[in-house]
Amino acid sequence: MEGAKCFVKTDAGDLIKDAKEVLSVHEKDLVSTDDMTKLDQLHESIILHNIRERFKNGIIYTYIGPMLISVNPYREIAELGVQLIPDFRTKEKEDLPPHLFYIAQRAYQNLLNFQKSQSVVISGESGSGKTEATKIVLKFLTIASERSPTEDLDIAAMIIATNPILEAFGNAKTTRNDNSSRFGKFIKICFDGPQITGAMIDNYLLEKTRIVKQAATERNYHIFYQIIAGMTPEQKEKYKIVSDYYYLTNGLVDVPKIDDKKNWEETVNAFKVLGFKDEEFDNVFYLLSAILSLGNIKFSEENDKASIPDQSSLSTFCDLMGLSSTFGVVKQSLLARKVRIAGRTSISFVPLTLVQAETNRDALSKRLYFDLFNWLISKLNTQLKGKSTEESLFIGVLDIYGFEIFQHNSLEQFCINYANERLHNQFNDHMFKAEQEEYTKEGVPWTNIEYNDNSRCIDLIEKSRNSIINIIQEQCRVEGKTDKNLLEEIKKIRSPYLDLGHPSDPPDQFKIRHFAGTVIYSIESWMEKNKDTLNVDLEVLLKKSTNPIVASFFADAA
Ligand SMILES: Nc1ncnc2c1ncn2[C@@H]1O[C@H](COP(=O)(O)OP(=O)(O)OP(=O)(O)O)[C@@H](O)[C@H]1O
Ligand SMILES: [Mg+2]
Repeated sequence: MEGAKCFVKTDAGDLIKDAKEVLSVHEKDLVSTDDMTKLDQLHESIILHNIRERFKNGIIYTYIGPMLISVNPYREIAELGVQLIPDFRTKEKEDLPPHLFYIAQRAYQNLLNFQKSQSVVISGESGSGKTEATKIVLKFLTIASERSPTEDLDIAAMIIATNPILEAFGNAKTTRNDNSSRFGKFIKICFDGPQITGAMIDNYLLEKTRIVKQAATERNYHIFYQIIAGMTPEQKEKYKIVSDYYYLTNGLVDVPKIDDKKNWEETVNAFKVLGFKDEEFDNVFYLLSAILSLGNIKFSEENDKASIPDQSSLSTFCDLMGLSSTFGVVKQSLLARKVRIAGRTSISFVPLTLVQAETNRDALSKRLYFDLFNWLISKLNTQLKGKSTEESLFIGVLDIYGFEIFQHNSLEQFCINYANERLHNQFNDHMFKAEQEEYTKEGVPWTNIEYNDNSRCIDLIEKSRNSIINIIQEQCRVEGKTDKNLLEEIKKIRSPYLDLGHPSDPPDQFKIRHFAGTVIYSIESWMEKNKDTLNVDLEVLLKKSTNPIVASFFADAA
């Protein structure tokens, strides 16, 4: 150190820095440690140094008190496998290296000792390894816990089998992660004493737009590619699968690290383990094929009026949905909007433009896939219920979509990042606020810990009356409002977490300073995505589908 300057040695060479930018470290804290609460000093630099040094030595796990930090190794580490589970059941924490198994073991032991449900919350940005960590925790719980000798269903195998199904239907390749979760899940493993009795999955907000459109290097949901790579020619004929689908052409289809054929086999096997009937399996795949053929319906336009010059895909769609007898009405509902003239009993049809017809078609595809996903979850829950009840104690594992910053961020990233803000806030409340309040109450001396409180960012997004979510809802209620109007209203909010940018920035953007970084959001299509309405005529028609799964989605349509 020399005056106000500091000489810093780094792997990339020596640097000269302002002394105030540099944090000091005790030499003894530079030694790798399993639990960072043992360090004399604890700040960002020393945490990063410790994790980096351990990672260089192939160690991906580090404790920080009751929490575990896990670094994505992007490779299988055989020494960290299931053979360690017996050790984690019997030995003390201090006698074993840090591992996710310990987190799972503690949850299990606490459930048994205190007779209270437990939760494991996994957070991190997109691609950091949350879903893989969830699977490791589930593996531990299903292997380590006891089984009822009289149980005829293998609930443990069924719990593990939910992974391929949920990933096939709810995960997709994004620019950040080849297997990115596009929905959030909270899976509860229910217990009666030490025995697993069943499980329950809650799911949150599947990303819908991906079904009809993907960014240039992203993909649609894995299941579509699995169908094409894995189905036999006979199956393809049965479900009317062809080789070219418009909904699958936007993204880069071939991903070297994904083996769609192998994954298809796993998905099919998981359907069997989970006890889906052949008829249910058929109905799921007739529906998926119908969604793909719906996407292949092309419109043309003359005098602002859309038409369907080639009706083969529409005909396939109607066949697959069991709607062939109403082909003409389905076609009309895709091309026109029914209007009842006030004071008259007659109904007239307003023709849709090409853009409106495409929006109408895509809204139907999104709704069908979204409802199918929810149907699958409720079916899984029926199968997994076993002997569990509402009162059963459980260990819950939370795995949501991670924080995202893309080049183009839309309403989906806004929702995902909002969910992550809430999770971060929950963490702050639990780890810092509540803990420090407890110290104060009990008169324990302690040094106040400064933490990044994101409550005001949450106010900006949701809490206050003048929040972004409220503004979106208000604007969507008013006829004729556009994305531009929405942005103008958002820009009126005054918050240190809202960055209105520079006058030279593109006019269709705003920025939010999230806890994990500043994200530039583009306002295009927010109003349409939020309204997400489906033509009522289509709903009424689909209620008559001979596919019972589809008919159940629209049971309330009138
Ligand atoms: N413990 C691990 N061992 C080996 N590979 C891993 C591990 N964790 C993650 N990976 C690799 O990283 C990829 C991304 O991990 P994962 O899908 O779990 O991320 P995520 O945090 O769930 O992301 P998202 O928020 O996008 O869903 C995995 O497909 C896998 O290749
Ligand atoms: Mg994930």
